Amino acid sequence: MSEYVIEVKELTKRFGDFTAVNRVSFTMRAGEVLGYLGPNGSGKTTTIRMLLGILEPSEGDAIVLGYDIRKQAESIRPLVGYMSQKFALYDELTMRENLDFYGGVYGINRRERPGRLREVLDMLGLTERQNDRAGELSGGWRQRLALGCALVHRPKLLFLDEPTSGVDPSARRTFWDLIYNLATNGTTVFVTTHYMDEAEHCNRVGIMFRSKLLALDTPGCLKTTALPGAAWEVSPDHGGASLVTALTALHDVPGVVRAGLASDRLRVITAPNAHTAESLKRVMNGAGFTEATIERVEPTLEDVFIALAGHDVVV
Ligand SMILES: Nc1ncnc2c1ncn2[C@@H]1O[C@H](COP(=O)(O)OP(=O)(O)O)[C@@H](O)[C@H]1O
Ligand SMILES: [Mg+2]
Repeated sequence: MSEYVIEVKELTKRFGDFTAVNRVSFTMRAGEVLGYLGPNGSGKTTTIRMLLGILEPSEGDAIVLGYDIRKQAESIRPLVGYMSQKFALYDELTMRENLDFYGGVYGINRRERPGRLREVLDMLGLTERQNDRAGELSGGWRQRLALGCALVHRPKLLFLDEPTSGVDPSARRTFWDLIYNLATNGTTVFVTTHYMDEAEHCNRVGIMFRSKLLALDTPGCLKTTALPGAAWEVSPDHGGASLVTALTALHDVPGVVRAGLASDRLRVITAPNAHTAESLKRVMNGAGFTEATIERVEPTLEDVFIALAGHDVVV
């Protein structure tokens, strides 16, 4: 088998004359957590569905766990876990019964199942609530149970499609701790999200936008190499003129890629070698902000995303 768990080449999916996934290529190694970041409609789910062999690609190829997604999809599915955006839990069944049901679906025999269920319940911290009915669980618990259902057959590779959307921040943190534990134990995790802060925690992050994978690298490398330019925090003085006035002044300056409000300051992205703290200070002075302070800051993934995707992005 190749050194890669997933190897994707020029994968493309068209629906009629609309291209949902456009020549996407990447590889993943065992134990990696790859975050796929992108707004709704950018092609994340379609990519997963092709990798699972559920949807036939229009062009391109992929090898998943050594199997060709076009010809050997039947061999891939039993080896992977998939938590879809609309995962199905049976509300009338308890947590344990749901897990048992999925254990059956994945072909775990009756003798092995109790042991395996204990393991999953324990790993996900669900043991105490195993007899609660799924219909009575809050969002965070449902999400964890759904993860358990996707894990019950010990997959080597896990696809999680926006697993934390609609879940409160503390449940999201718990969920990410579980993902890291899985990866530490050798599971490879492909996870989509539209939360920038979650992507920061992945080993590598792919940025999907309008069907294309614009970049894929570690968060650190994305910030140093994929951001074409620099990030700044500009604090206008409080000499009467408003933040919005400062923002307007910056918008029109050549070399400013983006200027936006960030609480009581402005966050500014400039083109490569276009500006220094001094030149931005002169801009602010010219707009009447004589006491403005300018600080070069570490870019965030959001800065990278916006710089790559252009101006009109709402994630
Ligand atoms: N079966 C389908 N038929 C037609 N268009 C589809 C189909 N599935 C997805 N699409 C379109 O492809 C685009 C990408 O969808 P999707 O992969 O679900 O994006 P994401 O998961 O990033 O939100 C969307 O514009 C969606 O409407
Ligand atoms: Mg989706």
